[in-house]
Amino acid sequence: MRMTEQAQGLRAHISRHVGRAFYPACKSDIEEPLSLIAPLVDEVVFCDPNDALAPAFSRWRSATKPRVTWLRKGAVEALEELGEFDVLFYRRDSDGEGGSRVFVLGDVFMRKLLPLFHNGRGLIITDGSNERGGLFRKMRRPSGLIRHGYSFSPIIEPTIEAAGLTPIAVQRLPGAV
Ligand SMILES: C[S@@+](CC[C@H](N)C(=O)[O-])C[C@H]1O[C@@H](n2cnc3c(N)ncnc32)[C@H](O)[C@@H]1O
Repeated sequence: MRMTEQAQGLRAHISRHVGRAFYPACKSDIEEPLSLIAPLVDEVVFCDPNDALAPAFSRWRSATKPRVTWLRKGAVEALEELGEFDVLFYRRDSDGEGGSRVFVLGDVFMRKLLPLFHNGRGLIITDGSNERGGLFRKMRRPSGLIRHGYSFSPIIEPTIEAAGLTPIAVQRLPGAV
């Protein structure tokens, strides 16, 4: 996805011009997500507690667009200081050896994450790693999912030209807090 009609279509689901993305358990997966998300946001907050990633992140310290921030902590702890964001990017994680073992696409994490979506809306761009309770499968249904006072709807068009990633539109329901 480059800055095309595709990106503009996805951007329509973000409620502000200067947006932020959050990518928990990123490992050294930096460059491709940056280029994929670049048309959508001005900052990508990467999160991974592994100190060994310091060299990988140090080269992104200079003024890039989007700006790169690295939270050197676990995904749950990162929510404490993340602040408002617009796009959750998340892929290729697991609950086994080498994985974060955090069910980012599960009810417990989602309940903490959803209130941080700016103006109650944004995007989840994911391959469905570490889903719990069939949450991702349900979000991808044509009818989508209503959960925790939010609607989740798969975006059929535009697609993202990267293997196995589905964009999901997130929208707080009227009256939900
Ligand atoms: C399977 S790798 C992620 C791969 C990456 N998403 C990619 O596409 O290349 C899992 C990562 O989760 C990180 N991790 C471990 N515990 C974590 C936690 N509590 N929160 C977030 N990330 C964690 C590990 O350091 C590791 O880099």
